[in-house]
Amino acid sequence: MPAVLRTTVLLFIYTLTYGVKGHTGSVNNDEGLDPSTLQNVSRTIANLLEKYDIRLRPQFGGEALIIEMKLLLASFDSISEVNMDYTITIYLNQYWKDERLAFSDNYDETMTLTGDFAEKIWVPDTFFANDKHSFLHDVTEKNKMVRLHGDGSLVYGMRFTTTLACMMDLHYYPLDVQNCTVEIESYGYPMQDVVMKWKGGGEDAVDGVAKVEIPQFTIVDYRCISTVEKLATGSYQRLSLSFKMERNIGYFIFQTYLPSILIVMLSWVSFWINHEATSARVALGITTVLTMTTISTGVRSSLPRISYVKAIDIYLVMCFVFVFAALLEYAAVNYTYWGARAKRKAKRLKEQAKANQEHQYQRVNCSIVSFQNEAIELQDVRMSPILSLRNRQNFNFDSEDVAQSMAPNFRMQTAVPRATYPIRGGHTQLLRKRNVSTSKNRKKMFTNLKKKAKEIRQKIPSVKDVNKIDKYSRLVFPSLFIVFNVCYWCFYLLQ
Ligand SMILES: *[C@@H]1O[C@H](CO)[C@@H](O)[C@H](O)[C@H]1NC(C)=O
Ligand SMILES: *[C@@H]1O[C@H](CO)[C@@H](O)[C@H](O)[C@H]1NC(C)=O
Repeated sequence: MPAVLRTTVLLFIYTLTYGVKGHTGSVNNDEGLDPSTLQNVSRTIANLLEKYDIRLRPQFGGEALIIEMKLLLASFDSISEVNMDYTITIYLNQYWKDERLAFSDNYDETMTLTGDFAEKIWVPDTFFANDKHSFLHDVTEKNKMVRLHGDGSLVYGMRFTTTLACMMDLHYYPLDVQNCTVEIESYGYPMQDVVMKWKGGGEDAVDGVAKVEIPQFTIVDYRCISTVEKLATGSYQRLSLSFKMERNIGYFIFQTYLPSILIVMLSWVSFWINHEATSARVALGITTVLTMTTISTGVRSSLPRISYVKAIDIYLVMCFVFVFAALLEYAAVNYTYWGARAKRKAKRLKEQAKANQEHQYQRVNCSIVSFQNEAIELQDVRMSPILSLRNRQNFNFDSEDVAQSMAPNFRMQTAVPRATYPIRGGHTQLLRKRNVSTSKNRKKMFTNLKKKAKEIRQKIPSVKDVNKIDKYSRLVFPSLFIVFNVCYWCFYLLQ
């Protein structure tokens, strides 16, 4: 027992001494910067900022300040054709030198400070010329940092997400290549005050492009360009980073092209169905036409309302035309079959009617003449009483005497036209003669036209076998569609 007690006591002492030793050791390590030196650094920073005027740029009044840019593409979030913009998340680092902030001769002596420090010193007023909406990330703190080097060189970094305008040319959609840019510029300082440069001179200034993945697109190339922008307030240096993005056709092949091709092929099935199966062939034709409409509606919903014709429009319209033509082909088949039958029937009926007419012609003719005379007489009778009645009524309102005295006159007057009826009759006869002559001319023209039509009809090979139309269609439609496809893909893929 005493031995056990002894060892526990020893252990206790051991841990106690080592624990204290470890603690004192760590205190000694922290003392690499003892409270006085920490105070010294704080004082240094306070001294730097004491006489610092945040409103004046470095080298104020002197030569232009050079600001270098370095950009790391964190992610390519989306591209929208409807809004004509794209969204990216980037780390932007800006490098410049502010001699007022030099705290030692050694460049390697650095201080990394929080983003708050940036509010106490001059920073460039950089902005994105094609920016629509952006925000700085602030989880867990504002994604900003300032690194100060001994000689006053500064690195000002931040991470943000920005939506940038990109006017896309969709003439070749979806076989298009887009060129979207990031335009960096100083908002207030013209070239005399601030000159911006890509750090490293060119494409080295941008990192992370190779790793970025975008749905629907592949970045095939990117460029860093520096241009001078002349505005009303002066000339500004503008840095632009442009991405050349090729659209991946795969999505559209499976979503649009392949279904369209299959629908067009489906419409050809009609040519192999018996022409008497009207409901089957019409249903097939209309279904394919409607499906083509649905496909084109789906495509249109993901695009802005552009007035010009896009590559996909041409394809869809042509598919629609093919499907529609297949439906019309059936109309033609049906007409030539049933129309020819109906014509024959009508001809037979006509001939029968003619024969019947000739039989009864004599009797009917006489009765018609007598009936006409009666009709004319009836008309006369009808005309005169109305007039006289009207006149009588008018004058009955004033006085009976006047009416009586006037009535005979009117009767006379009404009698005069009656006397002229024969003349009128002659007149109508003249008119009739004229009508007869014009109708003769018309008949001549009509017969001429008929003759010409007959000649034309004879020139056109008459389709006796209805199935011939279907047989030709089975060949013509697919071959025309293949020709169209070859032309289309050659034109758009070899642009
Ligand atoms: C405090 O800083 C000044 C210069 O910034 C330096 O000369 C001095 O030695 C420093 N004092 C301590 C205790 O480190
Ligand atoms: C994008 O377009 C601009 C202006 O037309 C051009 O200078 C730039 O080189 C293009 N970008 C690419 C990657 O081709």
